[in-house]
Amino acid sequence: MNEQKSTIAILDSGVGGLSIFQAIRQALPNLSIVYGCDNKNFPYGPKTPALVIHCINELVSKIRINFDVQLIVIACNTASTIALESLRQNSSIPIVGVVPAIKPAVEKSRTKTIGLLATPGTIERSYIDKLIEEFASNCELIKVGSTRLVELAEEKSRGKIVSISEIQKELAPFFPLKERSPIDTIVLGCTHFPLLINELSDAVPKPIQWIDSSEAIAIRVKALIPTSQPLLCSIKPTFQAVFTQTNIDSNSLTPLLKHLGFSSISQLQ
Ligand code: DGL
Repeated sequence: MNEQKSTIAILDSGVGGLSIFQAIRQALPNLSIVYGCDNKNFPYGPKTPALVIHCINELVSKIRINFDVQLIVIACNTASTIALESLRQNSSIPIVGVVPAIKPAVEKSRTKTIGLLATPGTIERSYIDKLIEEFASNCELIKVGSTRLVELAEEKSRGKIVSISEIQKELAPFFPLKERSPIDTIVLGCTHFPLLINELSDAVPKPIQWIDSSEAIAIRVKALIPTSQPLLCSIKPTFQAVFTQTNIDSNSLTPLLKHLGFSSISQLQ
């Protein structure tokens, strides 16, 4: 593996972090990136908090052993909402977390009825209750946890067609009155979901503002990366993807990863 050009790492259980990768690449086009995918432990959403903490710690350690990264993005709400504090305590480099963008959603909503679409783990976190208490106390907030949507984003990334009716089934709790439901804004509190944005938009009975965290994360990373250092922003950036398990299933992501500019795809030791 080529350590020298690796500058930041973006980590997730699956392909979700690619939504964050795309935003960061747009903001910092010369930055080399290692994408670490813990597909061996996918999905994180239904796992206990203790298990998620264990998985993400292990992934961070392996990445740091193999790559000389200057910053790590935990591109996973399920892990960030439970493990950020301890990861930061044990780290000499900045750790950027991705958490649901509840505050901007509250600011954008006119009806003050907003949705949080995330994994079953994320919607249960006390971190989320605190965010709601702090920023959304004047709102009605409907929380929906879905593992199926995470799986559908994975399937789409492997070239499969996603069924809109299946998505509608997952979104149904937001729309008890169909098009007369008061909800006008939904927070995409899982990094997998922006990958389904066209399908989500096709599946809802009325126009919805979808809010995700990717742009804010890219701005944060840009602020933390000293772009004047040539090592951090090589003229020709390299994008490497590493998996905790390589098999037919991970290989089926190769066309997408190539399309996104990844030049190397390998197993993380
Ligand atoms: N992409 C992850 C998130 O943002 C979680 C997906 C999963 O493994 O359940 O929460």
